[in-house]
Order: sequence, then structure tokens, then C-alpha cells
Amino acid sequence: MIAALQGQVTPNVPFWLMRQAGRYLPEYRELRAKAGSFLNLCFNPPMACEITLQPLRRFDMDAAILFSDILVIPLAMGMPLEFTAGEGPKLDAVQTRADVDKLIYDEAKLDAVFETIGLIKKELNPEKTLIGFAGAPFTVACYMIDGKGGGFAKTRALLDGNTEILDGLIAALVQSTTAYLCRQIEAGADCVQIFDSWAGMLDDTTFEKYAVKPVRDIVDGIRKKYPGFPIIGFPRGCCNRYAQFAQRTGVSGMSVGQEADIKTVVQSLQGRTAVQGNLDPELLLKGGADMEKSIRDILDATRHVPFIFNLGHGVIKETPVEHVAALSRIIKDFKR
Ligand code: CP3
Repeated sequence: MIAALQGQVTPNVPFWLMRQAGRYLPEYRELRAKAGSFLNLCFNPPMACEITLQPLRRFDMDAAILFSDILVIPLAMGMPLEFTAGEGPKLDAVQTRADVDKLIYDEAKLDAVFETIGLIKKELNPEKTLIGFAGAPFTVACYMIDGKGGGFAKTRALLDGNTEILDGLIAALVQSTTAYLCRQIEAGADCVQIFDSWAGMLDDTTFEKYAVKPVRDIVDGIRKKYPGFPIIGFPRGCCNRYAQFAQRTGVSGMSVGQEADIKTVVQSLQGRTAVQGNLDPELLLKGGADMEKSIRDILDATRHVPFIFNLGHGVIKETPVEHVAALSRIIKDFKR
């Protein structure tokens, strides 16, 4: 996987899946019930380490992704956070500039995350890649402004009007996220992915200001300390802007959603940035011949460029484990 991120067309295609550790696995659900809540799980290093490794035992992915969440950053900045059953995250929404100024990133609140990385690193086969991650400032700001997932009506209103609160939040998040990712790398992460799940909300002007610039600042900040460090960007739902994003941020890999036409993406990136993605998670849920055809089409389209197989978004919780096993076999049997 690291070779692919360094621009090599590897003989075998490395693979992992977004949300590979999660509710579609019975062994996850069992530990989750024991922990009592999702956040207890995230902040319990032995349990979070175990959950990180569970999918690799079953499916032998090439990479493990740290088990945590993008919303631990607002938590460390002093925002109460809760995950309620069936409803997703709830935060005390930021409403004024004074609310923004009150936020102070206290990295010690994330010590359990760094300890988890240390535990994973000890247990993980050294041939496997350990992926650290964070949310991109814009996506994390969406949750901090609206206080929950969904339509992000308050964030949209700010984009159209007074951007002072948003600008202040983004600046604070660039700083905390850069520090947080550097600590993950120090603890043992081999590469990092920056998730911008809601960047698709932005237009041409705001995309540059809120998706490109903050991620470029984070990439620059990381590479000042760790030159050439492999970083994957994922501005989800922005398939017309992947080339612009890759060129202007300097990421090593572009994670590609299922809505993108993979041939067009390959052509636009010209092998300069590794491609990752883009199987539709609905096809993994469905399985069978349709899934297999789509996997083979993606493998064909990416045959001559640095590529990491993945989904276009996270594994859906109803996905049968046999479908993931079938996907793993197809990728492993494929030789370029
Ligand atoms: O396996 C992995 O990919 C690593 C762990 C991981 C989680 N969340 C675990 C999780 C990662 C990388 C994330 C990223 C994340 N979290 C994103 C960006 C990617 C994306 O999905 O667009 C976002 C937007 C979040 C915020 C978040 N976390 C939401 C909106 C929710 C609720 C929705 C849901 O799926 O339940 C979560 C909860 C969450 N994060 C779960 C997991 C395994 C489910 C928790 C549970 O109920 O057990």
C-alpha cells in the first residue's frame, strides 16, 4: 500500500475497506455490547486495538485503520459529544464567535488514541500498513456548527452569509488536526487519510477556501515534520475536482467515491497521484455477479496506475461477511 502511495504500479493490488471494523462483524457487535457505548470503545486502548485487527483476521486486508472517529477532535477541543442509538452524533452546536474562541485543543484528552496506535503497532504484522486518520476541517466544522449529522442547514446558511464563525473554526481545526495527525504518526501510523465527507456541499469558490486550503495547510504541516509522508485525501462527492484537489494539496492518494467514473479519474490524475476506491458499498451489500463485474471493471481501469482497492464510502452495516470474503478472494487472485 505504501508503494502504491509512493507512485508504484504494484504487481498485487493492495486493499482495505472504509469502515472495515464495524457493525457488519458479529465480533464487533459483541465487544461493542460489552463496552456499553461507541465512545467507550474508542477510548479503551485494548478494545480499540482488538476491533482494529478483527477484519484483518477474517479477510487479510493489506491495511488496518485505527478504530476511532473523526469527532474526537471536537471532544478534545472541549465540546461535549454523544452518540445516541440510531441517531448518530450529537454535539453542543457552536453558535457565536465567542463559542469558537472558547475552544481549546487539549491533546492529553486523546492519549488513549495514541496508546491504541502503540498497541496495534505491536500486534500488527509488519508487512501490513497502519492507517491513521482525521476528519478534514470542513466536515468536522459541519458537525460542530449543526450539532448533528443530516442536512447541515446551519452550515449552509453560514456559507451563504457571514463566514466569520466558519473561518474561525476552520483555522482552529487546521491547527488541532495537524498536531493530532503528527502525534498519530509519532505513535506509529504509516500513512494517514483525511476524510472530507461533506465537501460535496461546496461550490467552486468555497471548495478552494474550505476544502483545498485547509487540507493543503495540514499536508504542509505534516510534511514539514515528516517529509514525503503518505497522505490520502477524500473530498467525497467532488469527482469533477479531484485533479484540482490532488494538485493543489499535494496528497499522495485520492480516495474516490462510487459516483465517480473511474476511467475519467485515472485519466485526470495521470498516474501522478495514487487512486483509491471506488466500489459502490451497495454492490458489496448485494454481492454476486453484479459485485464481481464492478470489481473487475475497477481493476481493469486502474491496471496501469498506482491503485488501492477500496469502497466509495463505508461498509453498510447489513453487509454479509461472505460478500467481503468473496471480494477479498477476487482482489488477491488478481495479478497485474
Ligand atoms: O473502520 C474504520 O473505517 C475506522 C473507524 C471509523 C469510524 N468512523 C468508526 C465508526 C472511521 C474512519 C470513521 C470516520 C467518520 N466518522 C466519518 C468520515 C467517513 C464517512 O463515513 O463519511 C464521519 C462523517 C464520522 C462521523 C460518524 N461516526 C457518524 C455520522 C456516525 C454515526 C453513523 C453510523 O454509521 O452509525 C459515527 C459512528 C461510527 N463511527 C460507528 C463506527 C464503527 C458506528 C458506531 C456504532 O454504533 O457501533
